[in-house]
Amino acid sequence: MKVRHARLGPASRGDLVFAFALDGSAPDAGPSLQRAVALAKATGDLKSSFRSTSVFHQADKAPCRRLGFVGLGKAAEIDTERLRRAAAVAQSEAADVGIDAFSLLVSQKAIGRVAPFAAGIAIAEGLALGAYRYEPPKQKPPKPAKASSCLVAAVGMNSKDETAFARGLQLGSVTAAAVVWTRDLENRPSNLCTPTDLAKAAKSLAGGRIRVKVLERAAMERLKMGALLGVAAGSDQPPKFLVLEYRVPRAKGNVCIVGKGLTFDTGGLSIKPAAKMDEMRYDMCGAGAVLGLFHALKHGGLGSHTPKHNLIGLIAATENAIGPSAQKPGDVVTAMDGHTIEVLNTDAEGRLVLADAISYGKKFYAPKQLVDLATLTGAVVTALGHEMAGIMGNDGKLIESLIAAGKQADEPLWQLPLWDCHKEQMKSKFADLGNINGGQYGNGSTAGGAFLSYFVGDTPWAHLDIAGAAYGGIAKDYYKSGASGTAVRTLLHWVATL
Ligand code: BES
Ligand code: MN
Ligand code: ZN
Repeated sequence: MKVRHARLGPASRGDLVFAFALDGSAPDAGPSLQRAVALAKATGDLKSSFRSTSVFHQADKAPCRRLGFVGLGKAAEIDTERLRRAAAVAQSEAADVGIDAFSLLVSQKAIGRVAPFAAGIAIAEGLALGAYRYEPPKQKPPKPAKASSCLVAAVGMNSKDETAFARGLQLGSVTAAAVVWTRDLENRPSNLCTPTDLAKAAKSLAGGRIRVKVLERAAMERLKMGALLGVAAGSDQPPKFLVLEYRVPRAKGNVCIVGKGLTFDTGGLSIKPAAKMDEMRYDMCGAGAVLGLFHALKHGGLGSHTPKHNLIGLIAATENAIGPSAQKPGDVVTAMDGHTIEVLNTDAEGRLVLADAISYGKKFYAPKQLVDLATLTGAVVTALGHEMAGIMGNDGKLIESLIAAGKQADEPLWQLPLWDCHKEQMKSKFADLGNINGGQYGNGSTAGGAFLSYFVGDTPWAHLDIAGAAYGGIAKDYYKSGASGTAVRTLLHWVATL
């Protein structure tokens, strides 16, 4: 999907022009379409409720062939999420009409109290993410997508606001392209997205400020990554440890962003039920978020901003399978930092691979801050559902800054406690730690966080459990089904503050 800013004029007209309609006032589509708007309104068919659409065919000499409207509802209710959804509705309506290129007019009134820059981001994201389809491998090639190009023009904005709006459109196109790329990676079944494929995807991001290193099993053995290797032991797919560096001049230090990259999670010998096991292809969505962030960084997602710290992406990629060498419940492994772990449940594998990824980050980068993202627990889905992710950690300020970034991205984060009583639960009789807290306690998500806290130590840290947000949410115009590409946009907003 191509989204471009255009000045209001003949270029922003054509076969189909959309404007936003608000309750209680005539839509503002600029002077040349004023009469067409008035005629449309006079029919009584012009709808303004949120997400409603109406398309009016124009007479011979009109400036465009069709004039369409997407409702935004009440002015007081307009926010970035509404604009993102309404833009996606325009894209889908244009596709239904069956044309390739269309225009969208965005008036000052339509964005309400939303800042023009934020409105531009949301609208570009809505257009591009609404157009997203996962193309599964099929014998016959799919029909080419419709409505694949949109010119967006501002109406009635002063030139300062229009410049900010245009910059927002540009940035939103970058973030949406990153999310689209991420969704494509996340939606692929596990045989088409192996740890080796994740390594390839990471390598494709190298260049400019980005360096990518891939560690093979032998390197993991040298580093004594016993927790990661224990999980990888059950699979023929070679595990990969991915290191992505975004280096800035005169860096004050490093910030690590760690992703769980389980390209499939059978549960291991503590095997998962058959129903919905296919969904465990999405167990690499933490890795997806990290890779998506670097995709955005590569394509100018930070604009002219240069962070004060190097951004280091770390991904532990493996399968959790049940080959003859698979680890068994009760096995004790030694993690990279020396902690011994009793693997009481082989299905609590995410925290094992993350433990070594965190230790790697601490050893080689001594990060000022560390954030990890993981589809870690089914319990977070029980607690919070699919419309938000859980966040916990040891640093209130860091958690606050991530929650704020999530608000800007309309990807909500909800904080869960992580207290000493949770950490206490993770001690084991047969090793330093157990990888589960034993079912009797109930607090599944905080147990996962508590386990990780032993490896993080004093480093300021936040853990995002995205098991719910990664897939399975309700359809919302710019997201239909499957992988959501969650947290890419949140991370980009967040690193823009570093
Ligand atoms: N990948 C799963 C978590 C998950 C569950 C993600 C459902 C998305 C949807 C993780 O590896 C896992 O299996 N966690 C276990 C932990 C338990 C054994 C303590 C879980 O949540 O059941
Ligand atoms: Mn598991
Ligand atoms: Zn898992």
